[in-house]
Amino acid sequence: DEVTPGALRWRSPSNIALVKYWGKHGNQLPQNASVSFTLDAAATDTTLHYHPRREAGAGVDVALYFDGELHPGFTDRTRRFLEGLLPIYPFLRQFSLRIDTTNSFPHSAGIASSASGMSALALCLVSLEEALFEPLPDTAAFFRKASYLSRLGSGSACRSVYGTAAVWGTVSGLADSSDEYAVGIADHLHPVFQSYHDDILLVSRSEKSVSSRAGHGLMEQNPYAPARYAQANQRTREMLDVLRRGDTERFGQLLESEALTLHALMMSSQPSYTLIEPNTLKVITTLQQFRRETGHPVHFTLDAGPNVHLMYPDAIAAEVSIFVTDHLLHYCEDRQYLADHVGKGPHQL
Ligand code: PMV
Repeated sequence: DEVTPGALRWRSPSNIALVKYWGKHGNQLPQNASVSFTLDAAATDTTLHYHPRREAGAGVDVALYFDGELHPGFTDRTRRFLEGLLPIYPFLRQFSLRIDTTNSFPHSAGIASSASGMSALALCLVSLEEALFEPLPDTAAFFRKASYLSRLGSGSACRSVYGTAAVWGTVSGLADSSDEYAVGIADHLHPVFQSYHDDILLVSRSEKSVSSRAGHGLMEQNPYAPARYAQANQRTREMLDVLRRGDTERFGQLLESEALTLHALMMSSQPSYTLIEPNTLKVITTLQQFRRETGHPVHFTLDAGPNVHLMYPDAIAAEVSIFVTDHLLHYCEDRQYLADHVGKGPHQL
């Protein structure tokens, strides 16, 4: 068939795990189920330009431009990802691909962008499939396919293609859940969580994080791994119940324990990683004091790095904002933070 050039463009958000994915097996399959909120402000815009190639090559012809500049590291990673997709997307050989990608948040902010970046690219790829062949049966099938492709690029990215919240991993009692793709759970959320805030406090912008590939790999030898996987599966079920009931207190207990457990797993691996910094602990203890004094449900979580995510209901946003400015920004690099909240998910631009 005659193929014509074109371009497709998606914006896709990052997500923050409430129950953490840490440990994988096989081809990017999780050792345990995980749950996340979809964010809004932390997002990636990606344009996929495709031009027919004179003759199809053996591999994939791709160049990735980040903020307008050719990025050799991301190009290599993207080529490996796309070549891994050739068994299901052999048509990728027929094109020269140029990917233009930018993040909505500052480039050097130390905010991980693999979830937003990989999901934005995956959404472009499913749109390309539809442009070349025929539409997928419905939007549910479209986003499921995008989630599946995202997972192959970066595990946690599969949770970014749905608005509000998502679960990845087989969970008993949750219809359609799978290890191969995430499912959206917007319908399961109590209203208090639909407008939840996530202020990302940038304790350090030079995110010194263990590569997640290495991190997941270390779990294979971690003596606590079997207990951890069982705990995370159990907590995923409980978190789903908490999200339905709108129980912000129990939500916070699970949230904080998940963050500290993730870091405890990294600290107890061989080699060991300590990714929190002194100011991470300052933020945490200052927050605990604020909670004791006010009784407000403001809780923290962490990714695989030193930055702190503060999560709280919209009803107390004004008060928390004053607390953050007066007592927490002092511990952030250049007083930087990103005020984010639960978002509606990706959209085509
Ligand atoms: O998606 P990966 O392979 O980069 O793993 C990320 C894992 C955490 O962000 C630490 C937790 C999670 O579930 O998002």
